[in-house]
Amino acid sequence: MNNPEKEVNMAAPDQAQPLLDQTRSHYDEYPFIEGGSNRIDWWRDYLVEFLPDGLVRGSRMVDVGSSVGEISRGLIDRGAQMTCVDISLGSLRRCREINPEAEIFHASALELPFEDASFDHAISIGVLHHTPDCRRGFHEVARVTAAGGTVVIFLYNYWSLYNLVFQAFKPLRAIWPLEKVPKWMVRTMQPFARTHLGQTLDDGQLRRLLGDKLWTPQATFHSVAEIKRWGAEEGLEFLKLKRFYLGYANVMSFRKRGDAPAGGTGETRLRCVGCGGSALESGSEVHRCTACGREYPLEGGIVRVHA
Ligand SMILES: C[S@@+](CC[C@H](N)C(=O)[O-])C[C@H]1O[C@@H](n2cnc3c(N)ncnc32)[C@H](O)[C@@H]1O
Repeated sequence: MNNPEKEVNMAAPDQAQPLLDQTRSHYDEYPFIEGGSNRIDWWRDYLVEFLPDGLVRGSRMVDVGSSVGEISRGLIDRGAQMTCVDISLGSLRRCREINPEAEIFHASALELPFEDASFDHAISIGVLHHTPDCRRGFHEVARVTAAGGTVVIFLYNYWSLYNLVFQAFKPLRAIWPLEKVPKWMVRTMQPFARTHLGQTLDDGQLRRLLGDKLWTPQATFHSVAEIKRWGAEEGLEFLKLKRFYLGYANVMSFRKRGDAPAGGTGETRLRCVGCGGSALESGSEVHRCTACGREYPLEGGIVRVHA
């Protein structure tokens, strides 16, 4: 197990890019589960106590690591204007179908293509612990949130049985491809789906769930104290903690210090990830960096930041 006090939330620098690429391939092949209206409703209701209607309605929000966008869907239905970001293009193509109203970016949580304080509120549910640098992802989510905004973060719990299981399983994962896992083993995930989400999933979805839980290339685990400290370092005031399903994860919310912006923040303000933060000139088919000329094509309604 990693040690929460030692901040083992970062891959070695030479492993970061390969890990990012492996993670992208994993979720392209096995996007996170799609539970349909049941799951959309479950998350819509669950988030109300972190993000009440008064905050959500009419606000601009970013969902960092949206996958197919079921959580975003619930927020759009509650009146938010959503921007979805994920590293898996396959997941985002489905997100586009589920959320035609959303702005969608194929980008990394570790390098968000937005100016500081671009959004009223931000969520990142079950994502940053899959990146090569969870701490940096946390910084990025806080950075793009405006003063007065709420940040909701879901991260795996250091103090959980799941942490032990994940570490013990690592050697097996290296030699046993997910597609070779027999159906009976995949179906052991069904009670988890039933008791957690109150629904049954088909074998394909259960394999995606198992993939996320045990075959994902990267998962780090974090204590509440560690995440609270990150919040303090980023100028976030801690608001609320809820243990998630048998304590395998923590859901925490924070408020970014400072005065609340008056109303929405208008258009999404893009910034270049290539040359360290210059503004982008927006076009209907491509956005272009005004400084280095890097292009960000819009393909099938998705802005391609990550090549
Ligand atoms: C467990 S899923 C969670 C999806 C969604 N938030 C939900 O709860 O339904 C993790 C997601 O994180 C995405 N992801 C992993 N690393 C990422 C990164 N560096 N940047 C953006 N997304 C990433 C994966 O592609 C995947 O869609």
